[in-house]
Amino acid sequence: MAALKVSGTIRVPGDKSISHRSLILASLTAGESRIRGILDSDDVRSTAEALRALSAKVPPLTDDMRVKGSGLRELRQPRRGLDCGNSGTTARLLAGVVAAHPFSARFEGDASLSRRPMKRIAEPLTYMGAQFDFEHGDGLPMTVRGVDLRSIDWDTGASSAQVKSAILLAGLISGVEVRITEKARSRDHTERMLRAMGVDAESDGTQVCLRPIDRLEPIELDVPADPSSAAFFVALGALATEGELTLTEVCLNPTRSGFFDALIRMGARIDRKGSRSSGGEEVGSLRVSPTQLKSFRISEAEVPALIDELPLLACVAAAAGVDLEISGAGELRVKESDRINAVVHNLRSVGADAEELPDGLRVHASRRSLSGTVDPRGDHRIAMAFGILSAASGNLITVTNPECVAVSYPRFWEDLRRVTA
Ligand code: S3P
Repeated sequence: MAALKVSGTIRVPGDKSISHRSLILASLTAGESRIRGILDSDDVRSTAEALRALSAKVPPLTDDMRVKGSGLRELRQPRRGLDCGNSGTTARLLAGVVAAHPFSARFEGDASLSRRPMKRIAEPLTYMGAQFDFEHGDGLPMTVRGVDLRSIDWDTGASSAQVKSAILLAGLISGVEVRITEKARSRDHTERMLRAMGVDAESDGTQVCLRPIDRLEPIELDVPADPSSAAFFVALGALATEGELTLTEVCLNPTRSGFFDALIRMGARIDRKGSRSSGGEEVGSLRVSPTQLKSFRISEAEVPALIDELPLLACVAAAAGVDLEISGAGELRVKESDRINAVVHNLRSVGADAEELPDGLRVHASRRSLSGTVDPRGDHRIAMAFGILSAASGNLITVTNPECVAVSYPRFWEDLRRVTA
């Protein structure tokens, strides 16, 4: 690895999952919510625009915005299709919202989103009474017809925050009790935000139960920095040869912090400081300094808390020249791209030694110098993971279509230049 000096303090943009949820839930309240630090990125804009098409009063995304809710079940039939862009969270959470309203809406998305499976939400929402029509397979476009839904006790047999949230939103709007059981606990931002808004949404490990309410109280929320965006710079700080990086106001919700825990197990020096709570979330700063990392392994039970960071972890292993095995992560094949194939293919094309597994991948330790061109296939997290590999290896690795980071972290490349300058 080449010499790399890093320095600086970064407040990465607001958490994407919390930003989507804040707009959706604020639109359903009977009052005015205040949201500070929302992520202004393509994905969150897709949610804002789809909510506007459903007649919600969502203003342009700004750092300190107010959203006037229309109340539960007051949204209106859209006059056009709901364009979800590249955002699975927009499509799946809003399917739960539309399912509980007395109208229908057609959901559309870009080529990547149109390939992603929607059966996982269609099944429980159909059981509750909604109707789903697919035009091809179980991807978008799909039309959801809502009705008065009935109560549900659903075992997802998997771990998906989008499925859990779609059911919670459907139950909330319809005023029926819902219970969801997961194989492993997925990110719990919806439950936390609902509790902060006065809803009885009790969670107990892998189970969550929501009881009906008549009205949803508005919220005042500071959106913490996105741990999935902070992860890129925490990785860079650990891979550097000199200096230190500090990430401030990071959401340290334990259902999201698996990447930081994994890096610590690999030997990284990460200090966590000053946790505080905002809108039901734990928040704190992370200071990271360089170390020699060790080989490691990620198994199924650990996957939900670092699912979006697995491409980065593979790039960290390649940059550090250590072995990595990831298993139990077949879900990576149906993200914004087939992330197992995209990571392994691109690692190989820059000279690293990597192989695909049906449900994961292996990176083999190698001292080869890495260089070449990476095609992130329009997937923001693949582009940023290879951006970090490029900075850490000090070699020429070109990422084509770097603009695709606009989905979650529009100023990523500027921040990367600033801390490595
Ligand atoms: C998200 C949930 C996760 C994650 C995605 C965002 C969310 O997917 O990978 O990037 O905001 O609910 P799952 O629904 O598969 O957990």
